[in-house]
Amino acid sequence: MNKSVTKAIFPVAGLGTRFLPATKSVPKEIMTLVDRPLIQYAIDEARAAGIKEFIFVTSRGKSALEDYFDMAPHLEAELRKKDKVDLLAELKSTNMDSGAIAYIRQQRALGLGHAVWCARRLVHNEPFAVILPDDVIAAEKPCLQQMVEAHAETGGCMVAAMEVPPEKASSYGVIDIKEDLGSVVSVNGLVEKPKAEEAPSNLAVIGRYILTPQIMRNLNKIKSGSGGEIQLTDAIDAELREGRDVFGYRFQGQRFDCGSKAGFLQATVAFGLAREDLHDEFDGYLRKLMTMQTAAQ
Ligand code: G1P
Repeated sequence: MNKSVTKAIFPVAGLGTRFLPATKSVPKEIMTLVDRPLIQYAIDEARAAGIKEFIFVTSRGKSALEDYFDMAPHLEAELRKKDKVDLLAELKSTNMDSGAIAYIRQQRALGLGHAVWCARRLVHNEPFAVILPDDVIAAEKPCLQQMVEAHAETGGCMVAAMEVPPEKASSYGVIDIKEDLGSVVSVNGLVEKPKAEEAPSNLAVIGRYILTPQIMRNLNKIKSGSGGEIQLTDAIDAELREGRDVFGYRFQGQRFDCGSKAGFLQATVAFGLAREDLHDEFDGYLRKLMTMQTAAQ
C-alpha cells in the first residue's frame, strides 16, 4: 500500500497578464466561474481527494486570496439575521480548518518548478499533490480523486494526461509513452513545450500531479529549461533518468483551460448550464442566440 496523499500545493503566484486589466487588482484565481472563484473549484477537488493540508505559493498582490479563505463573521451574522440559510450554508462550505492552509511567497517568477520547490519545507518526506487552478476539470468523480485511487496501486509520480490536437502539443508538457495500459500510461520521458516536430506524442500533461518528495531534491539540481524557467516537467523527467517510475493518468472528465480567455468563457457556459438554478434561463438564452445567429447568416 502506498502512502496516502494529504498535502497539496497550489501554485498561484502568476501575474495573470492574459487577463489584464482585470488582474491589475484581482488575482486571477479569484475570478469567478458563475459564482465561485477558480481557486474554490481547485480546493473542492483537493478535499474530495482527501487532501488535509493546502499550501499556496503566492506572490505580491495576492492578499485577496488570503482574505477569501478567512472566516467572514460579519457576513455570516448578517445572513443569519436575515435568515438566509442557503447562502449561509454556501458561505460556510468555503471555510477551512484552522491551520489547514499555509502561504509561501515565491519572490521571483522563476517558473512552475521553482514555485513548487518554494514549498519544499512544508511537504516533508511525503508524497504530495500539485493542482494548477487554471486547469478546471468537470468530472463526476473529481480528477485528483481518480488519480489518488490509481496512485494507490502504482506509486511513483503521476501526472494527469489528455490527448490534445497534435498542433497544440507544443503548449504543454508532453509524454513520451513507454507502455499504454489504457487509463494508466507508463512514461518513458517528459518534454516541456516541445517544438511541434519534436513532440514525442500528443498526450499532454494537465495541471494535476502526485509527486514523491524526491522531486524537491531534483528541483534543487535541475537547470532552467523551456522559457528560461525551472520546469516541474524536467524535475519529473529526472525521476525517469534515475530509474524511478512515472505514470500518466487519462482522467475521465472535461478540462477547461481557464488560463485563456476562450477557455474561461467555455467553462463559464458549461458550468452555467450545469447549474440547476440557472439551467433553464441560460439554456433558453443560448438557444435564442443561436437561432438569431443562424437567421442572420
Ligand atoms: C504548465 C506545465 C505544463 C502543463 C500545463 C497544463 O504549463 O508547465 O507542463 O502541460 O501547465 O496546463 P503552463 O500552461 O503554466 O505554461
